[in-house]
Amino acid sequence: MLRSERRGLHGLTEAFRNLIGRIENLLWLNARGPRSLVVMFFRQLLNDDTACASYLLGCKTKQRFAVVDPHVDLVDEYIALAGTQGIPIVAVLETHVQADHVSGLPVLVERTGATAYLPAGAGVEFEHIPLGDGAVVDLGNTKLRAIATPGHAPAHHAYLVTDLTRGEEPWMVLTGDALLVGDAGRPDLHAGDADSAESMARSLYRSLTERLLSLPDHLLLYPAHYSGSVCGRGLSANPASTIGFERSHSPALRFDSEEAFVEALLQDLPPAPERQPEIVAANRSGRPLVPSG
Ligand SMILES: [Fe+2]
Repeated sequence: MLRSERRGLHGLTEAFRNLIGRIENLLWLNARGPRSLVVMFFRQLLNDDTACASYLLGCKTKQRFAVVDPHVDLVDEYIALAGTQGIPIVAVLETHVQADHVSGLPVLVERTGATAYLPAGAGVEFEHIPLGDGAVVDLGNTKLRAIATPGHAPAHHAYLVTDLTRGEEPWMVLTGDALLVGDAGRPDLHAGDADSAESMARSLYRSLTERLLSLPDHLLLYPAHYSGSVCGRGLSANPASTIGFERSHSPALRFDSEEAFVEALLQDLPPAPERQPEIVAANRSGRPLVPSG
């Protein structure tokens, strides 16, 4: 091959490399910018029978999705929705052990091979990674940071969601049953010998005032329940809000002392969920709920 031909071939290879580099750069820039093509995926999935909200979210660039607070009746939907994006579910998280419905976590983990994450001290019997306060579940450009928010349950986390394709600061918070839209989580469902409903309510007061309400007003808030759930009183039918709107307008946050908050939170509690002990046992063991009757 002549030297001039080799130079020509070399030039073509260089041009091809540059083109690939430019495409990669373009994708990267898009992923970092407001007109991103490869941004965070986020969907709220609702189950109206129990008024439960759950979430499928994650990074499309690094191809890592997670489900938070899955409902057993929606497992097919999480898998199908992730499938439409062509991205695997690699993590399944709970904000706490649920007392009002059977979790979809065990089935989802079994069907997808995802890793289970629960708050440290949740007391479950199946394999999982326990998350301490501040622990991060890394989905690529999507990060979930645990915020310990006990009170509704002794082991309860909210998850702060950051999408690095949009910015370094958190964008939203999944509040579980600690802070709902229009109420705070009831403190009695997970109370026991060690933790009375009153001490749980005091714990929740600290979780709200010191943790969730220290977040910026603009932060989007996505709870685990909405109107129709027995996990709160007078919940909004809108399963989304912001920290600032709840700070200004939630009846549960209108009290300026711990005593007043606790007294109000212990009043007008709805009846306990049907079959609560069996549901909690199923969610602790990871085994299905035994049919009644
Ligand atoms: Fe709950």
